[in-house]
Amino acid sequence: MSLQINLTGKVALVTGGAVGIGRGIAEMLAQAGATVVVNDIDAEGGRATADALRVEFIHADVSEEAAVTAMASTIDARHGALHLLVNNAGIATFRGIAETEPSDWDRLLDVDLKGVYRVTRACLSLLERSAPASVVNIASVHAQMTVSTMTAYAAAKGGVVAMTRSLAQELGPLGVRVNAVSPGFVDTPLFRRWLMTEPDQAASLARVLGIIPVGHVATAAEIGALVTFLASDLARSINGANYVVDGGLTTRLMH
Ligand SMILES: NC(=O)c1ccc[n+]([C@@H]2O[C@H](COP(=O)([O-])OP(=O)(O)OC[C@H]3O[C@@H](n4cnc5c(N)ncnc54)[C@H](O)[C@@H]3O)[C@@H](O)[C@H]2O)c1
Repeated sequence: MSLQINLTGKVALVTGGAVGIGRGIAEMLAQAGATVVVNDIDAEGGRATADALRVEFIHADVSEEAAVTAMASTIDARHGALHLLVNNAGIATFRGIAETEPSDWDRLLDVDLKGVYRVTRACLSLLERSAPASVVNIASVHAQMTVSTMTAYAAAKGGVVAMTRSLAQELGPLGVRVNAVSPGFVDTPLFRRWLMTEPDQAASLARVLGIIPVGHVATAAEIGALVTFLASDLARSINGANYVVDGGLTTRLMH
């Protein structure tokens, strides 16, 4: 066994890969030698990232059935294989239940939870044909512990972790491992958008850093490094796991 991770010859799809965590994952996978396909709803941003990383790009909204089916068909036609699917595309709203309109709820669940179901299902036969293969679902610490204004997001991410456990049992015997990664605070455009909603950003950043035992937010590349490991043969016995990457944030008992 070697600790060198070499994904040469492996084909990977990263949804929501134009910026943030998805981009960090795509970059690390490409560095490990994988053939990477980045997907995003943002055509311009996705193409720019694909050009910068020298990877492929497929424009699709993970909430649109036809677009997702077409994406899987394109990968099949181009590569005839898919060894890694990273369900990363996600949106967040910072609203309590009274402010969460049914349309907000539906949109968030459609992207963050049903999107994982939809893309995984569309890629299923391709993953099975490419076995050993794996799926990594990007969930969140909000699946376990959350705050009072993340009603829809917490519900969606809890669902992603629960779905991961079920899929691990169903797909494991077919040679497709399924795991989840639950980040805490990661420095991405999403994180910065949240910070912008805070009245005193410097104070909020100091407060966030103060509650993370390691004293820093994670980088997207760190999430990418873990996903790269999970995609490799070194992780062949890891199935149905949920890796929390939060610097110890959720170990803290407040009293
Ligand atoms: N940043 C964090 O602190 C953090 C923490 C925990 C979990 N996460 C999760 O990590 C994932 C990535 O988060 P991020 O911080 O990089 O977010 P981000 O907003 O910075 O980037 C998300 C990317 O997904 C794309 N996207 C959004 N909706 C899409 C759709 N319907 N179809 C295809 N692409 C779509 C966006 O265009 C964007 O490029 C999300 O699932 C998020 O919930 C983030």
